[in-house]
Amino acid sequence: MTRAIGSDAVIGVIGAGAMGAGIAQVAAQHGHRVFLADAIPQAITKAMEGHIKAMAREVEKGRLDRPAADAVLKRFTYVNGVGADELREFAGCALVIEAIVEDLHTKQGLFKALEQVIAPDAVLATNTSSLSVAALAGACAHGDRVIGIHFFNPAPVMALVEVIPALATAPALVAECRALMERWGKVPVVAADTPGFIVNRIARPFYGEALRIFEEGIADAATIDWAMTTLGGFRMGPFELMDFIGNDVNYAVTRSVFEAMYFDPRYRPALTQRRLVESGWLGRKSGRGHYMYGTDAPTSQPTQDEALGRVIVDRIVAMLINEAVDAVQLRVASPADLELAMTKGVNYPRGLLAWGDQLGASAVLATLESLQQEYGEDRYRPSPLLRRVAKQGGKLLP
Ligand code: NAI
Repeated sequence: MTRAIGSDAVIGVIGAGAMGAGIAQVAAQHGHRVFLADAIPQAITKAMEGHIKAMAREVEKGRLDRPAADAVLKRFTYVNGVGADELREFAGCALVIEAIVEDLHTKQGLFKALEQVIAPDAVLATNTSSLSVAALAGACAHGDRVIGIHFFNPAPVMALVEVIPALATAPALVAECRALMERWGKVPVVAADTPGFIVNRIARPFYGEALRIFEEGIADAATIDWAMTTLGGFRMGPFELMDFIGNDVNYAVTRSVFEAMYFDPRYRPALTQRRLVESGWLGRKSGRGHYMYGTDAPTSQPTQDEALGRVIVDRIVAMLINEAVDAVQLRVASPADLELAMTKGVNYPRGLLAWGDQLGASAVLATLESLQQEYGEDRYRPSPLLRRVAKQGGKLLP
């Protein structure tokens, strides 16, 4: 049995990088005492400065008064290092969330070390984006206390949190974590312990199919981005978003999902993106990606051809809907959680199942079948559930 994680619970966060510092901030802003550790002292200094700045901003914006902001800052204990002595500081934590480097052996080692110091009923959570939660639970003496709590970047801003039980996770812990995330002002959804969980799985065609359309010379990046934003209603086009995320990061996620799915062609990464990464054209952060950045950078003008744009949007959206329907069939998430995840996690203009119903399951099926016929590739195979709904005339979103 794991203990209840009440509002007075002490929370531990290991890894004080982009995610860990943000998660620690969310916990402290919701009244918890928080211990935050990192292997590198500079990371701790940076996190501490970040927290001071974040609280100053809260005061400036009138969301907190100064005494309340100071009270939040007082709740942090920063721990330099993750040796046995440092980890002993985490002995009183009801929940420890790890947000260290994305490496299975390092994370397993950390959980094993934490099990030596935390209470037998304390919870261990991972913020991993791509590793299996089962592989972490399996390395622990008490796998029933291990769960995935996957925040999005930046953690204080993004509402969505995926809660991921492993096979061994105590069932009651799912409800406990869901309730905790709601108290932290988040929108929690429950995802199966499958590659990419919900968002990083379902969103793959947003990038992959756009890259495919680009590779075939059907349209250039600017035209595809124009079509997806202006006609499709997405906040950002696939190419500007890849450049924003970083082509290295986006490519690594695609590759990891592809490999973890036993090389299912539906998730195959694009050579175009690999070449960008190899060239160091990582996107905004390196000054060049699909586009060029900087004051003198030329701007790319889209061909504002609405008929062509509609073809592009229909194709990418059909692939996204197919992915969502398949995830429902394979019980990756409930239909309601799936819709929440895509709208709250990546700001899609609407839930993909509802979008499929609006277009009609038969129309989506027809788009996929025509692609499958044209290319003869398994990449475009329609989900059996999409076929069934199209045939029986029901709804994709019950
Ligand atoms: P980051 O590189 O900004 O931070 C990682 C921190 O962990 C660094 O400060 C590093 O010094 C520290 N660290 C590395 N190994 C350690 C160890 N053995 N013990 C203690 N500290 C250690 O990385 P980021 O982006 O914060 O990612 C952390 C985790 O969160 C990863 O598992 C990642 O997959 C996941 N994640 C990342 C998201 C993102 O958009 N950056 C979104 C959601 C999850």
